[in-house]
Parts: sequence; C-alpha cells; structure tokens
Amino acid sequence: MKKDEYIGILTSGGDASGMNAAIRAVTRTAIFNGFKVKGIYRGYEGLIAGESRELTTEDVSSIIQRGGTILKTARSEAFTTPEGRREAYDTMRKEKIGALVVIGGDGSLTGARIFAEEYPVTCIGLPGTIDNDLYGTDFTIGYDTALNTIVECVDKIRDTATSHDRIFFVEVMMGRDAGFLAQNSAIASGAEAAIIPEDRTDADQLETFIGRGFRKTKNSSIVIVTESPGNKNGGAMHYADRVKREYPGYDVRVSILGHLQRGGAPSANDRILASRLGEAAIQALMEDQHNIMVGIHNNEIVYVPFDQAIKNDKPIDKNLIRVLNELSI
Ligand code: F6P
Repeated sequence: MKKDEYIGILTSGGDASGMNAAIRAVTRTAIFNGFKVKGIYRGYEGLIAGESRELTTEDVSSIIQRGGTILKTARSEAFTTPEGRREAYDTMRKEKIGALVVIGGDGSLTGARIFAEEYPVTCIGLPGTIDNDLYGTDFTIGYDTALNTIVECVDKIRDTATSHDRIFFVEVMMGRDAGFLAQNSAIASGAEAAIIPEDRTDADQLETFIGRGFRKTKNSSIVIVTESPGNKNGGAMHYADRVKREYPGYDVRVSILGHLQRGGAPSANDRILASRLGEAAIQALMEDQHNIMVGIHNNEIVYVPFDQAIKNDKPIDKNLIRVLNELSI
C-alpha cells in the first residue's frame, strides 16, 4: 500500500450499530500510521459514482456512540454487474484509492471478493451485520446491540403476555438461514421456545412446543421466531395463525420487531469489537494481507479468506438449543 494513495472505507448492506465505531477506528489507525483515508458514501453505489471525500481524525469525532453509519449505506444492484464493477475500478484509480475497507455482511463481502478477483485491488472486509452469520468470526459488529434490543423488547412484551395470559410469537430478524439472534435472545429473555431455521423443520419445532403442553404450567408463553423473507411458511404470523386455527382456546398475539432491531447506540461490546477490528484492518493492510475478512475468534483477531467467510455456513452451537429446551420447562 503506497502512502500517496488513499485507503477507501465504505459501509454496505444493512446498517449495524458499531459501524461508526469501525469507521473511526479504521480512519484513526490509518492516519496514526501515516496513511490518508477517503470515506466513500452509500456503499458500492458511491464507489461507482465517485462520492467520496478525505476523512480527518476530527471527522470521526463523537461518532463511536452513534448507531447507523455516517457514510450511509446501500444495497447496490449496479455493483453486481461487470459494468458496475468496471466503473468502480475506474473511479478508484481516478480518486487514487489504493485499497478498500468494506464494512458489511455476506452480500457486501461477496461483492468485495468478486471485485478483488477481477481487478488488482486490495480489499479488507470487516463483518458488520446484526445477523452474526459470517463464518470465521465469533461475532459480527452490530449483533450484540441488536440482541440487547430484542431482550429489552421481549421483557416488555412479557409484561403484557403475563397480565393477559397470552401466547406471543415475537418475530426477530435474521440473515438468510441464521437463527443466532432468535436462539440467544430466547435464552436471554427466558422465552419458552425459539423457532429457528437450523433446528429441524419449522413444523417440528412448533409441535414440540405445543406437545409440551405450554399452557399447563405457565400463564404466558413467548416464542421467538426468525423472519421468513419471501416464504409464506414461516414468520410469526404463520405460527400464530396455525395455533389460532388448531387451538382456538388460546389467546395469541404477534409482535414483529422489524427494523427497530438495527439502530440505536451500540453496546459497549460492539464498540470494543468494532474498534479492535477496525484497528486490525489497517494492521492487515500494512502486513500486505489481501482479500480477507478480519474477524474475532476466542477473543483473538483472525484473518479469514473471503471465500471461507462467505461460502461456509456458520453453524449454531447445538448446545444452545438444549439449554433453551431444558430451561424453559
Ligand atoms: O442483514 C441484515 C438484515 O437486517 C436482515 O436481518 C434482514 O433480513 C434484512 O437485513 C432486511 O433488509 P432491509 O433493510 O433491506 O429491509
């Protein structure tokens, strides 16, 4: 990495709390080590359009505590096309951007991987998504904050569920096939069950929950369900309808938490994670690392080749499923 070129930094895909802390860490570590940084706006869209400006240490002051991303973000259709990536490469050269730090989830790092295969660009990825679904890192930036938000919401819903003797199906977000938020928020909020893609079939999980006679010993029940984009046979509405139809005696309600899980001030854990990963991204560049995601495993920084981070499924710890089952009797 030449010091007369800029390190470009962008956030892409769904925003996640802690992205700003990562932008701050990347910018300040780069400047500390004698590099210049450009912030690229609206993810790959801005990379294509040349929407960037130099960032100073002051530009990233007072952002560590803010949710969202000061660089804005987008899901870029254009960058999925060869023409879009060609334009992005041309813009990078014109703007003297020699390396790219991409903060985002699976789709964003896939874009970085393809780009780096096609053009002589160095890309370093940072896992930024509430879904926690990237292989090779124990945690992604934004996951801990979202988890805490869900638990706070479910605690409130519990008051209503208990007061009215109701069953609540609470729908949380996920990324494709990842039930991390659902499974862990269920444990942390004392929910009676979680219905997640990784645990057998959806139908089995509902049957198990019902089969245990959920109203026999409890006056309320909370079931956490992952969202089911584009799939009618999933999501909280689907399960609530089924229970209403099959067990008309039960008082059933649905709460879909939606995008309120994505924003808000990052938790201390997310701020620390983002700071460590952002700092490590610049260390990786200085070590001449190419096309890797910086992650954390057993509290140590690790470099994961894009291929592994994106293509491998990150398994959920099956012990978590047992813990929830045993503790929700
Ligand atoms: O990947 C992050 C995420 O919040 C997923 O949990 C969810 O499926 C998706 O993004 C929602 O995307 P959008 O913001 O485009 O509605």
